[in-house]
Amino acid sequence: MKIVFATNNPGKLREAQAILGDGFELVTPAEVGITEEIPETGNTFRANSLQKAQYIYDKTGLDCFADDSGLEVDILGGGPGVHTARYGGPQRDPAANIAKLLSEMARREQEASVARAYGIPTPKATRKARFRTSVALILHGEKHFFEGTMEGRIARKCSGHGGFGYDPVFIPDGYDITNAELPEGGKNAISHRGKALRAMAEFLKGQG
Ligand code: IMP
Repeated sequence: MKIVFATNNPGKLREAQAILGDGFELVTPAEVGITEEIPETGNTFRANSLQKAQYIYDKTGLDCFADDSGLEVDILGGGPGVHTARYGGPQRDPAANIAKLLSEMARREQEASVARAYGIPTPKATRKARFRTSVALILHGEKHFFEGTMEGRIARKCSGHGGFGYDPVFIPDGYDITNAELPEGGKNAISHRGKALRAMAEFLKGQG
């Protein structure tokens, strides 16, 4: 099946193709003449995934899907959330994003320990976090949504060279290595995007 995937991120494209397998031929926005940046202004992952898929559909009328994903960190009150991609600045640079994440977390941990030293009751600071993905599919003009999460924690420093984005600092539950140290197939088997895209693939297979 040929389907447009609304992403210009080569890391995501590679992962999605590996997860969906040979039965799916993923087409990029550029290949259907969309070279401008696709707007992404929603307050939730679901709103953003739909906005991106709808943009492609409105311009081309083709079957398409988009994912919107991000990181929720407990000590940051669930942030950076929908701001994950540009957390370290508008250039979406992974190194700048990770640097900001680690420094914000260190600042919150420091604040919590000072508060405790003054006897102010403070919830225990944890480094627990999760990746969350919403996938919006538009098939024959109808909208469908698929979700996936991956629970884990944020490491204190980068390790590994695989994956993309925040992978060098994300340690999935049940592991003591980061996503960037897992083989790609290993990450896809447990990842937020893997879960959401496999659910979409199952749905599409059921459509015949
Ligand atoms: P999106 O492209 O708007 O979905 O933005 C997602 C943001 O979350 C980007 O900054 C990605 O780097 C980050 N992100 C999403 N999924 C992953 C992942 O599997 N590993 C690492 N970072 C991710």
